[in-house]
Amino acid sequence: AFITVLMSAPVFSSSTYQSVGRTVGVRYTQGNWEGELGIDRVSIPNGPNGTFIINIAAILSSEGFFLPGINWQGILGLAYPMLARPDSSVEPFFDSLVQQLGIPDIFSLQMCGAGLSASSTADPIGGSLIIGGAEPALYQGSVWYTPIVEEWYYQVEVLKLEVGDQNLDLDCREYNTDKAIVDSGTTLLRLPVNVFNAVVDAITRTSLIQDFSSGFWDGRKYACWLKGETPWRFFPKLSIYLRATNTSQSFRITILPQLYIQPITDVDGTLDCFRFGLSSSANGLVIGATVMEGFYVVFDRAQRRVGFALSNCAVSGGVALSEIAGPFSAADVASNCSVGPQKEPLLWMISYALMAVCAVILVVLLLLLVLPCRCRARSGEITDESSLVRHRIK
Ligand SMILES: *[C@@H]1O[C@H](CO)[C@@H](O)[C@H](O)[C@H]1NC(C)=O
Ligand SMILES: *[C@@H]1O[C@H](CO)[C@@H](O)[C@H](O)[C@H]1NC(C)=O
Repeated sequence: AFITVLMSAPVFSSSTYQSVGRTVGVRYTQGNWEGELGIDRVSIPNGPNGTFIINIAAILSSEGFFLPGINWQGILGLAYPMLARPDSSVEPFFDSLVQQLGIPDIFSLQMCGAGLSASSTADPIGGSLIIGGAEPALYQGSVWYTPIVEEWYYQVEVLKLEVGDQNLDLDCREYNTDKAIVDSGTTLLRLPVNVFNAVVDAITRTSLIQDFSSGFWDGRKYACWLKGETPWRFFPKLSIYLRATNTSQSFRITILPQLYIQPITDVDGTLDCFRFGLSSSANGLVIGATVMEGFYVVFDRAQRRVGFALSNCAVSGGVALSEIAGPFSAADVASNCSVGPQKEPLLWMISYALMAVCAVILVVLLLLLVLPCRCRARSGEITDESSLVRHRIK
């Protein structure tokens, strides 16, 4: 989960910033930045009372970071220490906040803007970050929770996907290869390649529109309709089933096409154009902003779970753009859909173990090579390859 921070003054005008003399950099799926690590004292207007000390990176250079033209001034990472850079000993912002202010280890996000194109609206599209809990005024109905599988990204377990009423019916491990995460810093709903292809097939079959060019699905082209003729009625709903906290149950979060067939700024005065809010991924399933805009999402780190409720800003013309239903039985899926250990430290441990095995085999091979040679040498037989070759030639 990431929040872009639009600060009124650059970090360097802070009188309390102190460099700690370490360089730091982060590489994202898109873009990267580099800078220096420091500490600073901060307080949050309209937030918890008090001043606290945090680790902060002063970004000195960046490349392809955020969309061009966005007047960003920083980024606030809200994930666990394992993802902190340069290493996991650098306490993340939210951990410092909880430690020093004694607030509950929970934050929640309401991201708004569903069904609206960013520049065509008078009201700025916003949202809320609630620190220390959840705000009932921002959602409707109850909060459905899914366990956090591993504390690094907010990794969850996806059990099933449906396009319209149709179950994709893939092995549930496909949905979690190599991980499934909830991440507000990712724009789209990203799906592992196999899953993405199956979803596009199913949408094409149910959308009544057969003639989309592949450029629309892979994000290179927009689809345009005459102004006022919205295309949403042609598209199915998408549903994601998540493991419930009672692990023999699941619940379903559903987004309407208004959330994933996304209006973009006018290209031409007579047309309304839309982009596809899904993309294929080589590094796992990501429940990004495309889905999060439908829900009030609670990152309940205290109880190691992520909650979803109907967001009261995901409404258009009186119609809710998202749905939640449950509980459903999880008896029809594997007891564990998450794919084995994927974390870097574990991979390192595995590679060290493999290296140790290789070293042992190498020693055994060397012994086997050396010992028989000595025996043969003693008994006066051919001892080196060059003499073997000479024998063959003659
Ligand atoms: C913060 O402090 C102010 C002034 O002391 C007080 O009015 C307010 O209720 C406090 N807010 C919280 C969240 O504790
Ligand atoms: C968990 O779900 C199962 C299946 O629906 C149900 O039989 C069981 O009572 C539930 N357990 C709890 C603690 O609610």
